[in-house]
Amino acid sequence: MASFTFFYLHALLLLSLATITFSHDLSPSFYNHVCPQALPTIRCIVEDAIKQERRMGGSLLRLHFHDCFVNGCDASILLDSTPTIDSEKNAGANNNSARGFEVIDRIKFEVDRVCGRPVVSCADILAVAGRDSVVALGGPTWEVKLGRRDSTTASKDTANSNLPNPLMDLSKLIENFKNQGLNIKDLVALSGGHTLGFAQCFTFRQRIYGDKDIDSKFARQRQANCPMNGGNSSLASLDPTPAYFDAKYFKNLVKKKGLLVSDQALFTGGQTDDLVQLYSRNHGAFSNDFAKSMIKMGDIKPLTGNNGEIRVNCRRVNYY
Ligand code: HEM
Ligand SMILES: *[C@@H]1O[C@H](CO)[C@@H](O)[C@H](O)[C@H]1NC(C)=O
Ligand SMILES: *[C@@H]1O[C@H](CO)[C@@H](O)[C@H](O)[C@H]1NC(C)=O
Repeated sequence: MASFTFFYLHALLLLSLATITFSHDLSPSFYNHVCPQALPTIRCIVEDAIKQERRMGGSLLRLHFHDCFVNGCDASILLDSTPTIDSEKNAGANNNSARGFEVIDRIKFEVDRVCGRPVVSCADILAVAGRDSVVALGGPTWEVKLGRRDSTTASKDTANSNLPNPLMDLSKLIENFKNQGLNIKDLVALSGGHTLGFAQCFTFRQRIYGDKDIDSKFARQRQANCPMNGGNSSLASLDPTPAYFDAKYFKNLVKKKGLLVSDQALFTGGQTDDLVQLYSRNHGAFSNDFAKSMIKMGDIKPLTGNNGEIRVNCRRVNYY
């Protein structure tokens, strides 16, 4: 009897260990058996969307980032407003800025069709679409860990407090990333996401009119398309080659041509200068570290096991 009880407890212990170690961890092979066509389908639609508009790659990468920083990578950013959902789309950093939602809708529709049922989460779609975007624009690849589930809630307030803003100085940026379990290297490497895409005038006006720490010719060029008053939404690229994943973002920081205050903050005499120098000279080092940090960011507080759900429509929670 005693030995049976011991055996039983032992089995129970092993079982719970197995649950902790296996089913609650993300894994690149999560959909291999349940829907092997899922990942190629996502890539295909991402490539198609980028062929139509190169900017979309950056927009999709940013969606994954803005998802992960608000209660983890759980597709909370995709939920539309309802009486019970306070949509993150209305948060300061996202309103009239976050884009690519229609592409995610298309991916979800196609993936559910080829899989025959909704087995792939919207959160995983964001993570894979971000990776595929980087690859399509010439950047590094990495194995995306999978098995995230989708939230049934969203929080505009959490988005407002967690998403970094473009006026932050280095210590605020470090603190902001630290709150997500990301270190200084992650901050610098992931900021390299600004090798892609565009920013609106109102996000960099202070920088090009107020800062001393800026190349004066660069400031004048940017001022031409971003007046002191008005023109809030006119666009400037975040680096000189917004459709190529390259090291130009870091080369620009070294030349004091960072577009956002938060970009130049990484190279302004502080503890991240050396890393910026390294990435500006060594594209391989940047690519490697970017891939590693993307995996780390994708690991932020995922919903797994029986938590959350697999949404049928990425824009709303399932109803039963
Ligand atoms: C470090 C703190 C960060 C701040 C303060 C910041 C801020 C911004 C701002 C203000 C914009 C322009 C938005 C607009 O004008 O509509 C932007 C765009 C962008 N951000 Fe960040 N960002 C940060 C980190 C990141 C990270 C970690 C990534 C991805 C790994 C990323 C990827 C992008 C991309 C790709 C765009 C261009 C989007 C497009 O063209 O649609 N950013 N960011
Ligand atoms: C979002 O932007 C629209 C303008 O397009 C504005 O009317 C609305 O008040 C903004 N929402 C928030 C929450 O700031
Ligand atoms: C332009 O942006 C600034 C800074 O965000 C804001 O204070 C101002 O109200 C905006 N102007 C218009 C016309 O939307």
